[in-house]
Formats: sequence, structure tokens, C-alpha cells
Amino acid sequence: MKIIVIGKSGQLAWELNQLSTAGQEVICLGRNDLDIDDVASISRVLVAFNANAVINASAYTAVDNAESDSVSAYALNAEAVGNLATVCKDLLLPFVHISTDFVFHGDKGIPYLPNDDINPLGVYGASKAEGEKLINEIYPENSAIIRTSWVYSTHGNNFVKTMLNLMAVKPELGIISDQIGTPTFAKGLAQACLLSVTKRVTGTHHYTDLGVASWYDFAVAIQSTALDLGLLKQGISIRPITTADYPTPAKRPHYSVLDKSSLVSALPELSLEHWQAQLKNMMTAIKAEQS
Ligand SMILES: NC(=O)c1ccc[n+]([C@@H]2O[C@H](COP(=O)([O-])OP(=O)(O)OC[C@H]3O[C@@H](n4cnc5c(N)ncnc54)[C@H](OP(=O)(O)O)[C@@H]3O)[C@@H](O)[C@H]2O)c1
Repeated sequence: MKIIVIGKSGQLAWELNQLSTAGQEVICLGRNDLDIDDVASISRVLVAFNANAVINASAYTAVDNAESDSVSAYALNAEAVGNLATVCKDLLLPFVHISTDFVFHGDKGIPYLPNDDINPLGVYGASKAEGEKLINEIYPENSAIIRTSWVYSTHGNNFVKTMLNLMAVKPELGIISDQIGTPTFAKGLAQACLLSVTKRVTGTHHYTDLGVASWYDFAVAIQSTALDLGLLKQGISIRPITTADYPTPAKRPHYSVLDKSSLVSALPELSLEHWQAQLKNMMTAIKAEQS
């Protein structure tokens, strides 16, 4: 089975590439390989590769920049997604697309279900919501939308790596404690995407690691795991702060924990792990890369 991944240098694409096997070949394509603004270009490339399925791991993920660059955010997170769905429909290919917890407003207080009302707070979430809508209009019969949250990997830029860099040089850090969600190791997300393709999952679902955290909880766990593994020499003081203390161009949901039960029902073989265990797995991999 040849699975084409759209996106090459991103966190999820990189993890998907690591999972390639002889029986399930993962081919990651970047912006130099195809033009996702152009249906004919996508079609030509998918036919040339003899694709059996498509996973879209590309996205405009710069949440704050999206507020002032909505044209680019919508081009990639909505129009390009519609193009991919159109070509997958023409070629009868299963299509897996990744979306975000930021389609939700954040005022529910208990985990969001896939069919809960969406009400994004910013341009990034709204553009991702538009991408979901286009898939549901164009090719719902053979597409899966998997929403996730707070993604990190050993590859690429993310909160874990930013924290490790800052904790090595700063005497103290203030980290937001009133935004609640779930950190997700991209490796587990990649496994869930591949299983979804293989088992032909359709519809909208959620995948994150297990458990709940604030960014403050996440930072504290990063530091204590790093100290245990010898990735940091000494601890620093980490202070909880509020969203109001750290204004950003884009508003973020205060609570965006996702209910994963529909994906677990569709994929009983899916193994979910607590975010703290996955954080240790990721940081152990960083340690191995350093030695
Ligand atoms: N990161 C998170 O915390 C998070 C949270 C919730 C949901 N998600 C969703 O999860 C998915 C994967 O996220 P990620 O963290 O892996 O994203 P990422 O690391 O930011 O990677 C995004 C990818 O999109 C590619 N891309 C951008 N414009 C492109 C274009 N015109 N043509 C082809 N590729 C293009 C980028 O390529 P270049 O490097 O060449 O620009 C990059 O490979 C996305 O759908 C995202 O919305 C992420």
C-alpha cells in the first residue's frame, strides 16, 4: 500500500515517514513535489506515484501569524484541503485529514465530542473549520477528519523543545495555567493516522494522548523529566501565570480536552498512552539522539 503524505518537513509528516514499512510505504511530499493550490498538479502527482491513500499533514500552523495573514491560512487550511478532497474523490482514494482542538470555543468544561458545535476564536481555528466543512461537502464517504491538540515531536519546533532551551538559560519562567488541554506526541498521532487509513475510518474523530494538563503542568513535567534523564543540569523556578498576563494576537480556548471514544470504537487496536508517559518517550528519544 502506497500512502502519500502531503507535507514533508512538519512534525507529523516526519513521524509518519519513520513508520514506513515494506507493506505500507509512506511517501512524504513537500511543496517542491506538488502544488496543493492546483487540482491538476495534485492529480498528476498522485497518479504518477500510484497512490493508494492520502494523509494531509500540511497546514498553516502559525496560530498568531494567521490573525494578520488570513489569506495564507485559508489558502492552505481550507482551499488546498478542498483540492485534496476533490482529487481523492476523482481517484477513489481514502483521505485522512488532521484538524485541531482550536475549532472549539473552549467554554464547554467537559471533553468535546466530535459532533459538538464548533465556534473558533481565531483565524487559524476558523480556517481549519472551513477545511473540515469542504471535506464534508466534497468527499465525506471516504474521508476521515482527525482533530488533535498540543502536538510535539523530536523533530521540528514545539513547546517541549522551546521549554528545554529556555530552561537551560533562564533563571525562572512564567507559564500559562488557565488553558487546559492535552499534549500529544506526534508519533502516536502518526500511528493513529496510519491505522485510520488501513481500516478505512470515515467521519470526524478525535485523537490525543490521555489525560489533561495546563501549559504550566506540561512545563513542570518537561522540567522534571529532563532532570531525571540528565537533559537539564538544574531546575529553575516555574510560576503559573494567567492568559491575561501573556497577551497574544490570537485568542486560544481555555479548555479544549477532546473526547477520543469514537476513534477508539472505530479502531479497537489503537493504543492510547497518558501524556506524561509519551513525554518521557519523546524526551528519551531526544536523549538517544544526543548520545
Ligand atoms: N502543532 C500543533 O500543536 C497542532 C495542534 C492541533 C492540530 N494540529 C494539526 O496537526 C497537523 C500537523 O501539524 P504539525 O505540527 O505536524 O505541523 P507543522 O510541523 O507546522 O508542519 C506543517 C507542514 O505543512 C507544510 N506546508 C506548509 N505549506 C505547504 C504547502 N504550500 N505545500 C506543502 N506543504 C506545506 C510545511 O512545510 P514547510 O516546512 O515546507 O513549510 C510543514 O511540513 C496540522 O493539520 C495541524 O493543523 C497541530
